[in-house]
Amino acid sequence: MRIGDFSVSAIGLGCMPFSLTMTKIVPPREQSIATVHAALDAGITLLDTANVYAPTWDTIGHNEEIVAEALRTYTGPADVGVVMVATKGGSARGEGETWGRNASLDGLRAACEKSLAILGMPSIDLYQLHRHDPKMTYFEQAQSLAALRDAGLIRRAGLSNCTLAELNLALEVLGGPTDGGIVSVQNEFSPRYRNDVDVLDRCTELGIVFLPWSPLGGAVQAQEVGSRYAEFAQVAEEVSASAQEVVLAWLRGLSPVMLPIPGASRPATIASIVRSLSISLTAEQQARLTATVPESVSMFPDNGPRSALR
Ligand SMILES: NC(=O)c1ccc[n+]([C@@H]2O[C@H](COP(=O)([O-])OP(=O)(O)OC[C@H]3O[C@@H](n4cnc5c(N)ncnc54)[C@H](OP(=O)(O)O)[C@@H]3O)[C@@H](O)[C@H]2O)c1
Repeated sequence: MRIGDFSVSAIGLGCMPFSLTMTKIVPPREQSIATVHAALDAGITLLDTANVYAPTWDTIGHNEEIVAEALRTYTGPADVGVVMVATKGGSARGEGETWGRNASLDGLRAACEKSLAILGMPSIDLYQLHRHDPKMTYFEQAQSLAALRDAGLIRRAGLSNCTLAELNLALEVLGGPTDGGIVSVQNEFSPRYRNDVDVLDRCTELGIVFLPWSPLGGAVQAQEVGSRYAEFAQVAEEVSASAQEVVLAWLRGLSPVMLPIPGASRPATIASIVRSLSISLTAEQQARLTATVPESVSMFPDNGPRSALR
């Protein structure tokens, strides 16, 4: 699958569970690194991280550090030169665990330079604007992203948590995947939450990769997919797979630009993630799964007021 000019595997690894969890307990570092190594061994070449994926506000960069260490210490057969590291900036965390946003040019440049230093890369493969900053117009935020690209700090630009209007505006500022502009959108999308079908349709039209975040509904609900959605359990039985594997296959069946990034914190999970790639659902099974009714409850319902567009 192509993200702009870069070829990656048809499924990626979401690295957030190494550093940011609902329980606030993070797995041992060696386990996280072994999970990345298992993913590389299995041919996964897209790793999704973010600067704010960290156990606490004062350990920002924790997740990027683990990704960097895993790539540095990998001794397996895969060529790490073909791995795309996708990180994000624009979210902020401060003392007392306050969460905020900073997509100003200075704020985004400082975050990006810190990510570059941690990742040990001259330029970031894919840099995604994490969340809108309501203190600025979206036009200005897209300009911040364009400035990082024009300065050579990032190779490719993506958006996250955007509306269709924001995507269209960013396309005006940065261009699309064929002219070095927006190559990806990362929005929440799972059996539970499918509110951004208009964004997905636009991505499909333009060849912009859609990275559904929390594709299994997030760490807690991931284990309950089969019990919450009887159709997924039913199809899983029909194709002799797990309900989670069926979710990943179904997502990929929704659009040629869909590239799921399931999170994992254990090497054993990687085998199942990769197994999902060999499932072929019939058109009838795909339609039956799509017909299940989402609960439409977001993992992060309080996204704050949206930015003005211009
Ligand atoms: N842009 C954003 O605002 C945003 C927000 C949230 C997440 N994200 C990204 O999206 C990624 C995925 O989201 P997520 O980690 O929240 O949720 P998720 O992918 O829906 O669920 C992750 C959980 O699913 C389990 N799992 C994964 N594959 C499985 C399989 N085949 N069978 C059984 N269990 C499986 C993992 O178990 P184990 O831990 O036991 O391995 C993990 O606990 C994150 O890692 C992050 O990169 C982005």
